[in-house]
Amino acid sequence: MISVDFNDRVMIITLTRPDALNALCKKLITQLNAALDQAENDTRIGAIVVTGSGKAFAAGADIAEMKNLTFAEIAEKDFIQPWERLARCHKPVIAAVNGFALGGGCELAMMCDIIYASETAKFGQPEITIGTMPGAGGTQRLTALVGKAKAMELCLTGRMITALEAEAMGLVTRVFKAEDLLKEALATAHKIAQFSAPVVRMIKEAINDVAEVPLISGIKTERRMFHSTFALEDRKEGMSAFLEKRAAVFKNR
Ligand code: HXC
Repeated sequence: MISVDFNDRVMIITLTRPDALNALCKKLITQLNAALDQAENDTRIGAIVVTGSGKAFAAGADIAEMKNLTFAEIAEKDFIQPWERLARCHKPVIAAVNGFALGGGCELAMMCDIIYASETAKFGQPEITIGTMPGAGGTQRLTALVGKAKAMELCLTGRMITALEAEAMGLVTRVFKAEDLLKEALATAHKIAQFSAPVVRMIKEAINDVAEVPLISGIKTERRMFHSTFALEDRKEGMSAFLEKRAAVFKNR
């Protein structure tokens, strides 16, 4: 249901369930989480790209798998909770959205740090049209990215938007021609992976704090993290390399 490839220091995770437009069933999420564990435990991996196949990134949670579940069953199992694994990944993740990113598919993309999209990609939170609502952070992350008015319209109507509209709203980072999407995502992933891994991790953590802690504590934590980069050999090397007009050689320590 997924395939995992390695390109130098980048792990590429491809959702490969095209017959169901990569609908996110339990098995697929289990495989995705195992790949993320693997990436997180492998010091050679500096960045992750998540992409789809066929005409979808992912068309949402698997409706067939959910259809007969009762409230008691999903509440008891805290259904969807395992999806948050992606949002908790400490390594940078780029979503390369090649087609439909709907419902849980859009939510999965929003758990990533950067969203690159092909011109033909489509985004939306259509849960309302099937009698339910976003359940994997859609109301929260979408609102943080695009603001209340736009999030309300998207979630209350289920309207699908183009990649360009999503970019204008702040949901998507950049839009590329379909044939360039993966190449561009990989180029950015390689670029990030060449930097000092502890510094990359601190930047990701500090930016994610914005959504989770009040500004005053976020600013303090950011300053402390900045101070702590001075405990790294990589910080000294980066600044020395700049002044010596040469490329830095980071050792992730
Ligand atoms: C299960 C799905 C699916 C889904 C598509 N398929 N989306 N199966 N779950 N979310 C299946 C179809 O049943 C069909 O199977 C095959 O994929 C191709 O889909 P078609 O509809 O024939 O394709 P097309 O006409 O091109 O339409 C594409 C589409 C449409 C507009 C994306 O498939 C669609 O509206 N899908 C549902 C989108 C949605 O509502 N997502 C939100 C899900 S709820 P067969 O066997 O007939 O070929 C959700 C909850 C999130 O995500 C909250 C918790 C995470």
